Amino acid sequence: MFELKELSVCQIYHKVLARQKVELFLLRLDLTDGVVSGNKWFKLKYNLQYAITAGYNSVLSFGGAYSNHIHALAKAGYDLGLETIGVIRGEPEYATNPTLADAVNWGMKLHFITRREYRQKADKAFLAALRHRFNNPFIIPEGGSNQFAVKGASEILSPKLLDDIAPDQIVLACGTGGTMAGVIIGSQGINVLGIPVLKKADFLYDDIADLVAQVAGDVPGHWMLDLEGHYGGYAKRSQEVDDFILDFQKSNNIQLDHIYTGKMLLRLIQRVAMGIYPAGSRILALHTGGLQGLRGISSEVGA
Ligand SMILES: Cc1ncc(COP(=O)(O)O)c(C=O)c1O
Repeated sequence: MFELKELSVCQIYHKVLARQKVELFLLRLDLTDGVVSGNKWFKLKYNLQYAITAGYNSVLSFGGAYSNHIHALAKAGYDLGLETIGVIRGEPEYATNPTLADAVNWGMKLHFITRREYRQKADKAFLAALRHRFNNPFIIPEGGSNQFAVKGASEILSPKLLDDIAPDQIVLACGTGGTMAGVIIGSQGINVLGIPVLKKADFLYDDIADLVAQVAGDVPGHWMLDLEGHYGGYAKRSQEVDDFILDFQKSNNIQLDHIYTGKMLLRLIQRVAMGIYPAGSRILALHTGGLQGLRGISSEVGA
């Protein structure tokens, strides 16, 4: 399942881009696979290949009730014949939501824990207890972000793609920062801007630098974060983001989600409007998928 087809890129229309004479291209990772789409495909690839070659029968990971990562892991595990266990933050009632119902249909075992327990998700003793309870699964951290994921994400930008588009700036949404760490490694020195979708995300400077260092050895300086693109915080809705997503869908016929790509592109367009990018700039943004999560929200934004 990890054969990569050619990635598609399209040019985006927006009146602010036209006014400022800035060109924006969108890399459509959302089209990589029907289910294991976006950055998930890249982040899971080496994790699951490792789990299989190391002889694990099962893989365990963590996520919220609408997690794109959990959804993608369940489907990839099903396709590859690996058992999957999802450790889910929240109440068992969530098991019937569309994301987790799919996961259960693909054979994932769900284990619900409280928010307080979930905070221990990287704690050694907590992980040892999970290993014991679920018969020694391979454990992937929340959001999939470990060295395998970073290696996979470092393959998102091929030299040919960077040659064809010749961007001055690469932009993507950040959650745990694993995808950005990989993109920095694969960016051939082109500046990378990450837009965290959580509030107070300056801790990501350290997390991303650590992940880059683990995989590449040293940490280059051609990247930064814009901490103003969270629009209220993780998964918080705002009319401004909802309106932008609808408008973007109408003008470009591309669906965005309200957690990651909608916020990232809105913030990017605002940066262009502020005049941060000189006329003639070429920007490459990543559509990292996540559209399944739209089923969890009841509004006109849903696809
Ligand atoms: C659609 C989408 N975009 C971006 C991200 C952020 O990726 P990362 O956690 O690697 O920063 C995620 C995270 O899960 C995601 O689901």
